[in-house]
Amino acid sequence: MRTRVRFRCLECGATSPKWLGRCPECGEWSSLVEEVEARGRATTPEGAVTATPVPLADVDPLAAPRRATGVAELDRVLGGGLVPGSVTLLGGEPGMGKSTLLLQALGEMAAAGATCLLVSAEESAEQVRLRAARLGALDPKLLVVTEMTLPVVLATIETTLPHVVAIDSVQALHDPDLPGGPGSVGQVRHVAARLVQVAKRNGIASFLVGHVTKEGALAGPRVLEHLVDTVCSFEGDRHHALRLLRAVKHRFGATDELGLFEMTVGGLRGVPDASALLLADRRVGASGSAVAPVLDGARPMLVEVQALVAPTPAPVPRRTALALDGGRLALLLAVLHRRAGISMVDADVYASVAGGIRVAEPGADLAVAMALVSAWADWALPPNTVMLGEVGLGGEIRQVSQAPRRLAEAVRAGFTDAVVPLSTPEVAGLRLHRFGDLPSILDALGPGAV
Ligand code: TYD
Ligand code: MG
Repeated sequence: MRTRVRFRCLECGATSPKWLGRCPECGEWSSLVEEVEARGRATTPEGAVTATPVPLADVDPLAAPRRATGVAELDRVLGGGLVPGSVTLLGGEPGMGKSTLLLQALGEMAAAGATCLLVSAEESAEQVRLRAARLGALDPKLLVVTEMTLPVVLATIETTLPHVVAIDSVQALHDPDLPGGPGSVGQVRHVAARLVQVAKRNGIASFLVGHVTKEGALAGPRVLEHLVDTVCSFEGDRHHALRLLRAVKHRFGATDELGLFEMTVGGLRGVPDASALLLADRRVGASGSAVAPVLDGARPMLVEVQALVAPTPAPVPRRTALALDGGRLALLLAVLHRRAGISMVDADVYASVAGGIRVAEPGADLAVAMALVSAWADWALPPNTVMLGEVGLGGEIRQVSQAPRRLAEAVRAGFTDAVVPLSTPEVAGLRLHRFGDLPSILDALGPGAV
């Protein structure tokens, strides 16, 4: 067995015995990183390095125990917690709450006995201390260092050897030996690659904060996704307190868990009951309002769809969709016109989802269509009723994925009735009203039917 140091291009995988500023194969700048020789390798008589395969069934999955972060909604997304040596990229627009989330998680883990190191490259130690005090995240095991130079950060991590490290942010660190300022593509990629190396070599669970712009561009998360084990994105509407955390990539679990938080004066608070929060300000019995059981990843929640139909003399009336897909709104208006004889051509139409959550799935079609009819006729939909179904171009109501799961959430939230597609199976605690198309729903329940 022998140890060889070599450098591998992160872009094309080419190797070189020495570090080069530019990959000789693909021409990418600053893409070469040092490769650490793994244990368990041997060489053939010809000198080629080989590794030893083991039966997959003999691999111990529990060799990677997880450390719970103590922040329930974060643990939900991570599949139980952090795997030692794993690197998690936390991406999101500036101001979303990334620093807050990590400080809370580090505070919890430190309180549980883990040494946690926060590398703050954007905020002073005093600023971090003030925020930590407010979040109740002061623990002797939570260490902070304010540093922007990569080699210093790496050396600090390797001498401190914490259980968990958080880098806030990758864009703010830089290596003076490389061209380009902090935040340039080459620097960000190099910084992340070196941090990943140190995390793997020492078994340190690491968080990297990466800022994303509205366009999702920037020398940030996008160029780092292949380097890290897990990519979490933290999203939300700037004007609402609700924050959504999801795993975009996860080597240690599923990517369909959704974490929900509310930003409060005391930091981020987990939202275990999303439906209650999203329906809190609903005016029961008002026209132009329908409730849809939607699914985000694996998480069901009830949202209120609202519509407003206002007559206008304008030759081209307005169609505005907020937190909904504008194309689906146009489609539903056309279906109502042609299949149910309800025309809104002489009116401005607004449709939205309340609460700061975006609904792009067709499962909410029926609720949108019924909210539109309700607003148009100034007639309230039946109370305690959710609307579930995709509306086809023929006006037919189609089945949606995981209906039982969504309807169970409606029962939990106290709803008694559901308007659903024909093939929907029974759900305990809910009266199902099954329909095949939009006209028959309007005949049975619509404004004219009452
Ligand atoms: P921050 O974590 O700094 O966002 P990021 O690191 O993603 O840029 O927090 C963003 C906003 O959250 C900040 O503008 C103020 C607000 N905030 C609260 O409302 N309550 C709090 O307890 C904290 C710490 C922040
Ligand atoms: Mg921050």
